[in-house]
Amino acid sequence: MTLPKYVSDNAGAGVSWGHALRCPRCRGRLRDSDGDGDGLRCDACAVTYPVENGIPRFVPQDTYAEGFGFQWNRHRLTQLDSHSGLPITRDRLLRASGWSPEDLHGRTLLECGSGAGRFTEVLCETGAQVTSFDISSAVRANAASNGRFPNLRLVQASVYEAPFPEESFDYLLCFGVIQHTPDVERTFKTLFRYLRPGGRFCVDVYAAMVAYPHPRRLLRPVTRRIPPARLYSLVERAVPRLLPLSMALGAVPKAGPYLARAVPVAGHRHLGLTDPEMIRNWSVLDTFDWLAPRYERPQPRRRLARWARELGLREFSIRRDRGLYVIGGVK
Ligand SMILES: C[S@@+](CC[C@H](N)C(=O)[O-])C[C@H]1O[C@@H](n2cnc3c(N)ncnc32)[C@H](O)[C@@H]1O
Repeated sequence: MTLPKYVSDNAGAGVSWGHALRCPRCRGRLRDSDGDGDGLRCDACAVTYPVENGIPRFVPQDTYAEGFGFQWNRHRLTQLDSHSGLPITRDRLLRASGWSPEDLHGRTLLECGSGAGRFTEVLCETGAQVTSFDISSAVRANAASNGRFPNLRLVQASVYEAPFPEESFDYLLCFGVIQHTPDVERTFKTLFRYLRPGGRFCVDVYAAMVAYPHPRRLLRPVTRRIPPARLYSLVERAVPRLLPLSMALGAVPKAGPYLARAVPVAGHRHLGLTDPEMIRNWSVLDTFDWLAPRYERPQPRRRLARWARELGLREFSIRRDRGLYVIGGVK
């Protein structure tokens, strides 16, 4: 079987797998607009979607997720296992999903909201046929890091208007995304359109913790309005001052994780990072990621379960993983 050409052989030279995509407006097929791969044309809608450096784009450059584009291009490598030398992302993915690399090998998988591509990298290494998309310019960072994989297709699109055939993927993965969208229920339910009946899914969401809300919630009403570059420079200055205090509090037996939360910078004691520069970079990235997003809407477990029932998912379970709920199962 001849595999279609993926983003790696197309960087800077158009895209040759546009036939696999659908017009997000009318669901019709797309064709190469001018024969050189710089655009995908829907004749029925009379619209041409641009292809930039091999990545088809179905959204404007400027959306509510601009801060994510900024953070992931600034921290293109920080969280990639190939950069940290630790299996942090791989372990999280396999633990949360319960999938093995052998399960995924040769299967089609849709990854929603791929950011800089920390999970994309692990997924591609399994030999799955991976389609990853993100609404923001983070797709550029992902292409720079993972464009080497022949089994990766990258698209810039929103989950609400995604250019994929319905019920076509064997697996669906979406980590760290749905709480950052304007309508979490709609996002969750829309995702499942692209998964085939019998396909497997794993989606996580910030857990709503009524008893102990995170103190960053006090800062976010102000920080989410600050332009990304300005906020980033504030975070870059605050982290070296506050991180040692957060780490010291975090080391207190038993109460440590709760005490550390009083300091509004992200610490990563549990990840096993030892290099001071890496620890600082993870903290700057995650502190910015706490404070910058336009939307952050944690969800209670019972609401997730209701949505899953309303979708008629065949099997599902919801587990707590630190501050997240992870829902996985079969459509
Ligand atoms: C916190 S990041 C998580 C990135 C990656 N999944 C990870 O865990 O490293 C959330 C990502 O969701 C993307 N996103 C937000 N709204 C989206 C939408 N409507 N459609 C697709 N992606 C979206 C953002 O651009 C951002 O890159």
